[in-house]
Amino acid sequence: MRDRILNIKNEAIAQITEASNSEELEGIRIEYLGRKGKINELTGNINELSSEEKKQIGILINEVKTTLENEISSKEDQLHIKSAEWFDPTIPGIKQDLGHLHMITQAIQEIEDIFKQIGFVRRRYPEAEWDYFAYTALNFPSDHPARDEMETFFIDSPENKKYGKMLLTPHTSSGQVREMLRVNSKPPIRMLNIAKTYRRESDASHNPLFHQFEGLVVDEGINITHLKGTLEYFVQHFYGPNIKVRLRPHNFKFTEPSFEIDTTCTICEGKNCKVCKEGWLEQAGSGMVHPNVLKAGGIDPKKYSGFAFGWGVERALMMKSGVKIPDLRTLYSTDLRYLRQF
Ligand code: PHE
Repeated sequence: MRDRILNIKNEAIAQITEASNSEELEGIRIEYLGRKGKINELTGNINELSSEEKKQIGILINEVKTTLENEISSKEDQLHIKSAEWFDPTIPGIKQDLGHLHMITQAIQEIEDIFKQIGFVRRRYPEAEWDYFAYTALNFPSDHPARDEMETFFIDSPENKKYGKMLLTPHTSSGQVREMLRVNSKPPIRMLNIAKTYRRESDASHNPLFHQFEGLVVDEGINITHLKGTLEYFVQHFYGPNIKVRLRPHNFKFTEPSFEIDTTCTICEGKNCKVCKEGWLEQAGSGMVHPNVLKAGGIDPKKYSGFAFGWGVERALMMKSGVKIPDLRTLYSTDLRYLRQF
């Protein structure tokens, strides 16, 4: 008797599991739990047993009944969830994890927006570039050691007769002469070239790949005050209204005169702290476009003049107060615990 009951139970469970729609499930329910179903049939046979057995079998039959009822009702739920007509709009939704742009991309967008307000247009030039645009057209003599000094990555491909070797742009200045040629040597030019730059160095403050933003303005009557005013506009919008700009004499082949750009320290605002040198931070390079560079772009240096500046995006980002990164290379890590902070 006991075995028969358990067999019926197993057989029923197997059928319930297999059932693929509500009608089938209802059929199974009637077959086993219905008034003339298999379970009731068993109950009918109980009279033949002794009273002690009757009691035990009775308990077992009841247990089996409850088990089958539960199995059927949970199977019903499953089938309902699968069927499209059943939809409970009150169930809380599943929250999706939202990502965000990388902080370098965010900084690039912010820089672009600031310069856009004063008429600069973003341009893009090749990352794999000819030596000519990166160096020769920028007034570097052919034997100048700068090509080594700048730790250039040269590409192992045939040289071009006119443009020399191919390389990965070591600075965004390679876009200067390209921009002059793009406008058919006809100023005005107000270019912002934000791009990846590459140098063969890697330590706490250098990554072989980094980013620069380069401004180039060429027109009639452009002078150093325009350079200074443009830089002031940028730093006051990027770092804050109290930040000042200082130009310090320097040397670049493609600008004359050349300057290093310092700003008052973005952490202590010029008071002198651990991060700065007596309240000032070295930020970027700049100068008045060298006449030979204008000539390489087909522009008459007697009629036109211009200024240019080149600035590291990572550097600008790190100097922004609140973002202190002991090792620049962490910026490129894929560790989400780090990236989520920004
Ligand atoms: N290209 C220079 C550098 O990478 C920066 C610079 C740009 C200087 C434009 C002067 C004018 O260091």
